[in-house]
This record gives sequence, C-alpha cells and structure tokens, in this order.
Amino acid sequence: MKLFLDSANLDEIREVAGWGVLDGVTTNPSLCSKESVSFEDNIRAICALTPGPVSAECVSLKADEIVVEARALARIAPNIAVKIPVCLEGLKATKTLHAEGIAVNMTLVFSSGQALLAAKAGATYMSPFIGRLDDVSQSGMEIIRQIKTIYGNYGYKTEILAASIRHPMHVVEAALAGSDVATMPFSVIQQLVKHPLTDAGLKKFLSDWERVPR
Ligand code: E4P
Repeated sequence: MKLFLDSANLDEIREVAGWGVLDGVTTNPSLCSKESVSFEDNIRAICALTPGPVSAECVSLKADEIVVEARALARIAPNIAVKIPVCLEGLKATKTLHAEGIAVNMTLVFSSGQALLAAKAGATYMSPFIGRLDDVSQSGMEIIRQIKTIYGNYGYKTEILAASIRHPMHVVEAALAGSDVATMPFSVIQQLVKHPLTDAGLKKFLSDWERVPR
C-alpha cells in the first residue's frame, strides 16, 4: 500500500520524505489555508519534494471552469493530480481531463455508489473519507471493503485512496481491506512507527551493551 502524507506543510513533507517511506502527498483548501506561502508556490515546492503524485484541489463548481482550473494546476509540475469533488459537474470534468491524460483524484467520496461513478468517469484516484464517516456513525472501513469488491468485480483501474485517516489502526485496516493508498496526517505517520515494546527493548539492549566486554 502506498503511503501519502495529508499535509501542505513543507517541513512535515521534507521530514517524511527523508524517512524514505513517502509515496505522495494530498492537500486540500483547509490544509493550504494553514500555510503562509502562496498556494501555487507552495504546491510547486511540495511537488519538488515529493517522489510521487501531489493532489491539488480545484475549487470551481462548473465542469468547464473545473477543467480550466485543473489544466492550470497540472502545468505546475508533472506529478500533480488534480483533486475534484464527486458531483455531476466534477464527473463531467473528470471525463474530459482523463481523456487529456491529467490524473484526477476524485475527492469527498462517502458512498460506494459515488466510487463507482468516479471509476467510470476515469478518475486515477478516488478518496473515501473514512474518519468523517466514522464521525457520523457509519463505518468508513466498510465503504473501503465494498469499493474494493466493486472495482475488483469489473476490473476498474482507479486506485482506492483511503483518506480522512485519524489513527494508526485506520492505516492497518485500510491495508487489510486492500486499499491502494492511505493518506494520513503527520501525527498518524509518526504514531505508526511507535511501539512501547520497541522503546523498552531498545533501552534494555543499550543498557546490556554497556556490560558487553569490548
Ligand atoms: C484527503 O485527501 C483529505 O485531504 C483529508 O484526508 C481529509 O481529512 P479530514 O477529514 O481529517 O479533514
């Protein structure tokens, strides 16, 4: 499973890229609003730091305007994936952009029916928001499992990008469900590496090492 960082912060992205486990980055308007750099400069810098796709979100609501905005975003760097919300206008725009070879990450997906439409329109990635579904007492992970089955039944190439991840178990469960990608905040990818038994084991080995004759 590919690991993406859900962040628009250059320090976080540089740090995780340095760990050698970063496959891509997702941003959204809320994440970009936390940064003081201009949107375009920030996206360009993120693309330069990231070894894989970087999602940059379109904010237009009409298909023809989404297409114009997406083309401009795609010109920023070769590894841009334009993020488009799953709605009728977004589907129309995705069809056009797919035909032009522009990668689309269809976002704000909350049902397997929406995921089916995203695949049919030609989205490269499709992002179900697991945490936000859990927040309203629906199982986000169940949606991932359903989509995995549907895409498998018909051989859709669209990648399932588990989003709105809140904790390490979301990452593990997404991997077990066969999600192609999981995007997570910096705090979650940090938690993923931590285990108290690893810390305790390391401490013991280091103290025992002091008694090893050298
Ligand atoms: C994904 O692409 C979104 O940016 C993100 O995962 C949304 O997460 P949130 O529900 O924590 O805002």
